[in-house]
Parts: sequence; structure tokens; C-alpha cells
Amino acid sequence: MMRLACCTALLFVLRLLVGLPWYQVLPAILIFYLGSGGWNFLDIFAKTVGRDLHAASVLLRVKLNVRRHLREKNTIPKIFAETVHRHGDKTALIFEGTGERWTFRQLDEYSNRVANLLLERGFKEGDVVALFMENRSQYVGIWLGMAKIGVEAALINFNLRLDALVHCVTISNAKAVIFGSELTDDRLFYIYTSGTTGMPKAAIVVHSRYYRMAALVYYGFRMTSDDVLYDCLPLYHSAGNIVGVGQCLIHGMTVVIRKKFSASRFWDDCVKYNCTIVQYIGEICRYLLNQPVRDTERQHRVRMALGNGLRQSIWEEFMNRFNISQIAEFYGATECNCSLGNFDNKMGACGFNSQILPFIYPIRLVRVDEETMELIRGPDGVCIPCKPGEPGQLVGRIIQNDPLRRFDGYVSQTATDKKIAHSVFKKGDSAYLSGDVLIMDKYGHMYFKDRTGDTFRWKGENVSTTEVEGTLSRLLDMKDVVVYGVEVPGAEGKAGMAAIADPSHSTNLEKFVKDMEKALPPYARPVFLRFLPEVNKTGTFKFQKTELRRDSFDPSAVSGRLYFLDSSKGRYVQLDEELYRSILSGKCKL
Ligand SMILES: *[C@@H]1O[C@H](CO)[C@@H](O)[C@H](O)[C@H]1NC(C)=O
Ligand SMILES: *[C@@H]1O[C@H](CO)[C@@H](O)[C@H](O)[C@H]1NC(C)=O
Ligand SMILES: *[C@@H]1O[C@H](CO)[C@@H](O)[C@H](O)[C@H]1NC(C)=O
Ligand SMILES: *[C@@H]1O[C@H](CO)[C@@H](O)[C@H](O)[C@H]1NC(C)=O
Ligand SMILES: *[C@@H]1O[C@H](CO)[C@@H](O)[C@H](O)[C@H]1NC(C)=O
Ligand SMILES: *[C@@H]1O[C@H](CO)[C@@H](O)[C@H](O)[C@H]1NC(C)=O
Repeated sequence: MMRLACCTALLFVLRLLVGLPWYQVLPAILIFYLGSGGWNFLDIFAKTVGRDLHAASVLLRVKLNVRRHLREKNTIPKIFAETVHRHGDKTALIFEGTGERWTFRQLDEYSNRVANLLLERGFKEGDVVALFMENRSQYVGIWLGMAKIGVEAALINFNLRLDALVHCVTISNAKAVIFGSELTDDRLFYIYTSGTTGMPKAAIVVHSRYYRMAALVYYGFRMTSDDVLYDCLPLYHSAGNIVGVGQCLIHGMTVVIRKKFSASRFWDDCVKYNCTIVQYIGEICRYLLNQPVRDTERQHRVRMALGNGLRQSIWEEFMNRFNISQIAEFYGATECNCSLGNFDNKMGACGFNSQILPFIYPIRLVRVDEETMELIRGPDGVCIPCKPGEPGQLVGRIIQNDPLRRFDGYVSQTATDKKIAHSVFKKGDSAYLSGDVLIMDKYGHMYFKDRTGDTFRWKGENVSTTEVEGTLSRLLDMKDVVVYGVEVPGAEGKAGMAAIADPSHSTNLEKFVKDMEKALPPYARPVFLRFLPEVNKTGTFKFQKTELRRDSFDPSAVSGRLYFLDSSKGRYVQLDEELYRSILSGKCKL
């Protein structure tokens, strides 16, 4: 923009000073403009103006709607009442499993019964009730019922046990699973952010944020109320509950909810219920690709896959194999104030930031020490924005007095503080730190820096755990395989280790080694194998690597069978205490 303005100004100056006629000035300016990098700008302008105007109109529309809802004091239950009015007898929710269907009216009536019951029992506005249950039909109805009378639901991961569960109930200020508290106005419910390590942090979700998240996705990806959305994500997370179920409550979409993700039933369900949109997280895509080919995987009407974490390495394969024309990848933690969306179906991108209208959405990438995630600042103490191609941490500006631009934060103040930095865009401002390193291309598309997954170095080569996992899983009849690097004293880098779920002890190790030698280069072959009845996953289907890494290849710490790849013999041998000691002492070479 600046460049164009400068050139225009120059044109006027030349015309005035030199008195050149227009027909000579114009081509001169054009050549000067294009030569000075203006060509690049025109290229960017032409390729992104449609996308950016769409995004601007979506932002404006959602903003006006949020403003109206705030002015009219509309809560999600009030917005839902409008939806019931419009779509009363249409199917709101289908529960795969029991096959139940609820119309919008039935869902409304069920939630009214819940609200009345809670009122009778003495619950009132501001009380917090921990919701810790698996039945998905009731789940939606109960928290909607709670919201109707201002009771907040703390949505607890029903997979949590003991310590983590106690912690969650405690940080929601609960002394029991049902309890009261003096929390302020419009908080709707707490969602415990997943996090594969450590304790979950509770993020406060307000009604307007719920609306905003669901609406940005709806308008940004051009959905309609005639779409049918398949949601098999956990309902205690924002992806399943807001991005998924929110489309039903707010926009009148039919949502099919499935109790548990099933890779083998996925496409059959989509065909059965005429789904047009499926929700995913990266792990789901990987499991689907690992399934044997079946007819239904191309007989469905799914036009869009909506979610996050689809890896660049399988993006194209996923679209082609399942004939899905649009990948609606988005980015944005529950508590994050810098959401992104891949509105223009750009392969591999998790979103974009406009290059021609950067002021409409105040996010940017800033330089960061990738090891420590410490922000790098210029001499004036302000963060340094990244150029295209330069990795940086994604940050979002905080404007507290605008209700649209509030950072609601976590329940706990210390957790909030760690997520905020000052003097990021300019001196004295505040910004939300996403904690993620991204790279932007010149059109503003944002990519995760390392979408090939974790890597570790072995024999001077980088090993991508995701790629090795995919290969091993295929060689092992689609068993769940987790690959990670383990340290071996005296050896440079990390040796590959694979944990394999093999409850029936059906792995033929001799055949496996032969197949593996054909499929993987020597440095990528796992040095250690660990067989388990199953590999633990988190609620969002991520493998839990922390414990596996901790156990390493110590036979006294590890439950299950352990093997070591004896390179001199070219086969896996049982790893016992004696062999373990000789590996540690360096007597046995890797
Ligand atoms: C789940 O809740 C619904 C609605 O109350 C009920 O009809 C259904 O039987 C329940 N399912 C299970 C498995 O408890
Ligand atoms: C799916 O669509 C077909 C054809 O339009 C229709 O006959 C069928 O009833 C639909 N199925 C469901 C579950 O809505
Ligand atoms: C792929 O999907 C499109 C609709 O999105 C459909 O028109 C086309 O026939 C499908 N192609 C195949 C080969 O199934
Ligand atoms: C919060 O989100 C809004 C939505 O677009 C954004 O414009 C704003 O800069 C963000 N900053 C915060 C944390 O207030
Ligand atoms: C491995 O990764 C490191 C760090 O990302 C990089 O510097 C190096 O060039 C890579 N090596 C190979 C062989 O690809
Ligand atoms: C898997 O989870 C179970 C139950 O939480 C735990 O007892 C077990 O140690 C875990 N297994 C591994 C290999 O981490």
C-alpha cells in the first residue's frame, strides 16, 4: 500500500516540477513501481484479495453479531431458542451408537427438564456443577439446561482418574463434584485444555466467545444450516463441544455425534447419515489412512474436513484417497486470542494473515529463540516481526477494553501471566503468546514449522517419528505404533525405539525385520522394540510418549517384552538385564 501511495505521490511531484505530460509520466511511474518491487505486491494483491475480503467480511459480520448479542444480553440458550423457533422439527442431534435422534424441540424440552430439576434442587445462577459423564445425548442436553439457569458446567475429561481428576475439580474451585461458587457474570463453562503432559489448565469460556468460535468457523468456511456435521471428538474439549455441537445450537445444523471415534466405522457412518462435513484432529486422519481401502470411503457426500493438526506429509494423500475437496484447517487454542483459519484451501496451511490488509486482524509472527521460546527484542525493547520464510512465535494483540478483544484467560491467575507479554507490537502494549512457532509465506499463509512431527537425530540423520510410525504400522497389519528417541550412554544422538500394541502376540519378528530392511534406511530402523497390550492415548487420541520415554529400554522399568536390534546378526534379540548392562557399558555396539 505504502509503495503504491509513494508512486502516486511521485507522479504528482514529477507532473508539477517537470511539467511532463501524463502520457509520459504514467508509463515511467509504472515501470518504476514494478521495478521497485511493486510487481511482487501486485502478485500478492491479485492472489489474496479475494481471500482477504472474505475474511474481512466474516470478521465484521461476527463482530456485529457478537455486539448485538452483547447488547441484547443474548446467551447461548437465548440464541438456541431462536434456532428452535426456526428449525423446531428438524433433527438437531443424531447419536450414533444408540441411533437416537433428537429434534431441536426435543433437545429444548430435555434441557428445560434439566434446568427445572436443578432449580428444584436449589441450584442458582453462578453455581458450578462439574460434568463428568460419558453419555453424549445427555451431555449436550444437561449443559444446555445448566446454561439456561446460569449454572456453569465444568466439563471434566471422563478419562481422568485420581490425581488429575481431583486437580481439575479443585481448580474449578470445587470441593465436590457439585458445588457453588461466587464467580462473576457471563461465564458459561470451563473447558480443560488438553495438554499431553502436566495438569490441565482451565480456560474460561464466555458466551460471546462460544458464539464467536462457532460463528467464525461457520462463516469463514462457508457452511450452511443444511450441512450435516460428523463429530466424534470428545465433548469436554472445545473442538467437539463448540466448533462441532455449536453449529447445531447456533446455526441449526444437524450434528451426528459418536461416542468414540472408530476408524473402521467412520466412512460407513458418513454414508449412513449423509454427512457433508467431518471433524478431525491429526491423529484421526492418520488412523483413517492406515485403514484398509473400503468402498464407503469414496461413496460419501463429505465435502469438507474441519479440524486441526493434519500433517503436511499426508495432506494431499488424505484429500485424494477420500475424495474430500476442502480441508478446513484452523488453529486456535480455547484460550488463544489469535485464531487462524485456512479459508482458501491452501495445501498444508493452518491459516493466514492478510498481507494487504494486515490491520484488520492484529496478529503476527515475532522472532523467538526456538529452544527457550524467549522473545527476541530489538534495541527499543520491542519484539521483531518476522519476514516471510522466517520462523517466529505467533502472537495476538490484547485490547482489553473492547469486549470482542478481551482475553478471558485461565481461571488461575498465574497460568494467565505466563501467556502474556508486553511491548510486543509496540512499546507498552500487551499480547497473547501462542507458544507455537510458525512460518509465513509471502502471501501470508501460515504453516507450522515442523509438521512432520517430532524428530530425533541418529547416526547423523534426522528421523521423523511420524514417518517411521506410518511405515511400521503398515508393516505390522495396522497395529498402533509409537516411535521415539531414547538416549544411550556413550552414543551420539538418540536411538530409535518403537512401542507396539500387540495384545495377541501376533508379530512375526523375522518377517518384520525383512520387511523393515526394505522399507526403512538403517538409521531409521528402531534399535529397541517394546511390545505392550495397548499404547496409551490421551482424550484427543494423541499417544502418550512421556511415560514411554521415561521407561526407555530398561528391562527392570519396562512392562512387556523388550527387543534389541543386533546389527551384527540382523535380527531382534530379547533384551534382558545382562544385555542391558553391556549396552550401557558400551561393550555391545549399536
Ligand atoms: C443416554 O441418555 C439418553 C437420554 O437420557 C438415554 O435415552 C440413553 O438410554 C442413555 N444411554 C446410555 C447408554 O445410558
Ligand atoms: C440421505 O439422503 C438420501 C437421499 O437424499 C435420503 O433418501 C436418506 O433418507 C438420507 N438419510 C438420512 C439419514 O437422512
Ligand atoms: C469426488 O467428489 C465430488 C464431489 O465433491 C464428486 O462430484 C465426484 O464424483 C467424486 N469423485 C469420485 C471419483 O468419487
Ligand atoms: C482477540 O481476538 C480478537 C478477534 O479478532 C482480535 O482482534 C484481538 O486482537 C485479540 N486480542 C486480544 C487478546 O484481545
Ligand atoms: C537435521 O535437522 C537439523 C536441525 O533442524 C538441521 O540443521 C540439519 O541440517 C538436518 N540434517 C539433515 C541431514 O537433514
Ligand atoms: C497406561 O495407562 C495405565 C493406566 O493409566 C497405566 O497403569 C500404565 O502404566 C500406562 N502404560 C504405559 C506404558 O505408560
